[in-house]
Amino acid sequence: MSPIRVAEILRSDSPPETALVRGWVRTKRESKAFSFLELNDGSCLANLQIVADASLPGYGENVVPARTGASVEVEGRVVASQGKGQRWELQATRVALVGAAPDDYPLQKKGHSLEFLRSIAHLRPRTNLFGAVFRIRSRMAYAIHRFFQERGFVYVHTPILTASDCEGAGEMFRVVTMDGERVRGGEEEFFGKPTYLTVSGQLEGETFACALTNIYTFGPTFRAENSHTSRHAAEFWMIEPEMAFCDLGGDMDLAEEMVKFLVADALEHCSEDLAFCQRFVDKGLLERLEFVRDRPFARVSYDEAVEILLASGETFEYPVEHGHNLQSEHERHLTEAHFRCPVTVHDYPKGIKPFYMRRNDDGRTVAAMDLLVPGIGEIVGGSQREERPEVLAANLREQGLDEDDYSWYLDLRRYGSVPHAGFGLGFERLLMLVTGVGNIRDVVPFPRVPGWAEF
Ligand code: 4AD
Ligand code: MG
Repeated sequence: MSPIRVAEILRSDSPPETALVRGWVRTKRESKAFSFLELNDGSCLANLQIVADASLPGYGENVVPARTGASVEVEGRVVASQGKGQRWELQATRVALVGAAPDDYPLQKKGHSLEFLRSIAHLRPRTNLFGAVFRIRSRMAYAIHRFFQERGFVYVHTPILTASDCEGAGEMFRVVTMDGERVRGGEEEFFGKPTYLTVSGQLEGETFACALTNIYTFGPTFRAENSHTSRHAAEFWMIEPEMAFCDLGGDMDLAEEMVKFLVADALEHCSEDLAFCQRFVDKGLLERLEFVRDRPFARVSYDEAVEILLASGETFEYPVEHGHNLQSEHERHLTEAHFRCPVTVHDYPKGIKPFYMRRNDDGRTVAAMDLLVPGIGEIVGGSQREERPEVLAANLREQGLDEDDYSWYLDLRRYGSVPHAGFGLGFERLLMLVTGVGNIRDVVPFPRVPGWAEF
């Protein structure tokens, strides 16, 4: 008999009469005549109840020691369950203990703190919450590819090792080779010059958009920001579409459409896991997701946003000032108190934005946009790109960057330059929105944050 996943049985109206399942024991209840094992194989949130009769051959060696955390293989008859909460259960005809788990298995009881579970990140996927979060993460990755592939975007793999600092913010991890304990530098640099882990695939992505028109990247990015917040990780995944012959308006449209598409996909395909998140993580989750899916987002210019904040009468920790970056408390005021919905803020002052953003005719602002959502703040950052070679060169000089380092990027403007635009969606920030989970460390399998790179 070939094995079958628990989800296939539990979701079926007419499951097979007999089945072979494998998984881990979540709990066991024993009576004189029976044992009830709750078996989970990660295919869905629900456990399959196994009823093992004490008269089964090998009961003493295989069922009695199959405690919480043990792995088992079970063959049996699928029957309608008498108990509450599940449609089908398995009347075991054979139970094999695959791997025992002694009493020090850390997930004996329910209700561990998220902090404790982070310290056992190698075992936390075996809990209901992390099973749900990582199934949703997987589905969202798939939905992202669907979204772009169905619209004719080409998936491009941009390099992870790079010599250019896309954001010009200097928050990069350096990549070095070693000679014993000594770092090889200067003449001995592996690539002949200093290299880093990428902070964004955008610049390389632009070269492909200027050939294939519509492209996207989806991969890991790294930032050495010393930010101890619930929304920053040193390693995170980013989705970066780039579109040729596109302006800021088209860019904002695509970002909104994408967020709505992904939320709709989660509501349709992850309903069981989302219901769990709603119950145990965030009581307002489903209502908020339906709102994001169904209602229009707000759009305001940076100048308008600042006016709204100044007129709010609210006292913020960081004062609101024209020309300064919006802080997360300001972003949250806009989405949670003022508009009460996702908001796209556009046309930021040029002084607070990177060199590649297109200068507006007012000479003061750039064609930038950030998409902000309630509870989190920024989940998308993007812009129309500067396509005029002389303006781009001036921007580089103004920001103290070396034109020679960006000669290939300037070439795109010398040969067949086109207006183009794109954005970056933080994958983990999207997952925080979709699951309601409040800390980025709990939507990444193995988080990397300042002071923490275990596993
Ligand atoms: O706004 P950012 O810095 O934009 C860029 O990197 C552009 N090159 C994107 C582009 O136009 N192609 O980052 C984009 C998004 C942010 O909105 C946020 O969601 C996420 O990446 N992000 C982070 N997520 C987790 N941890 C961090 N430290 C993050 N920094 C940015
Ligand atoms: Mg940003």
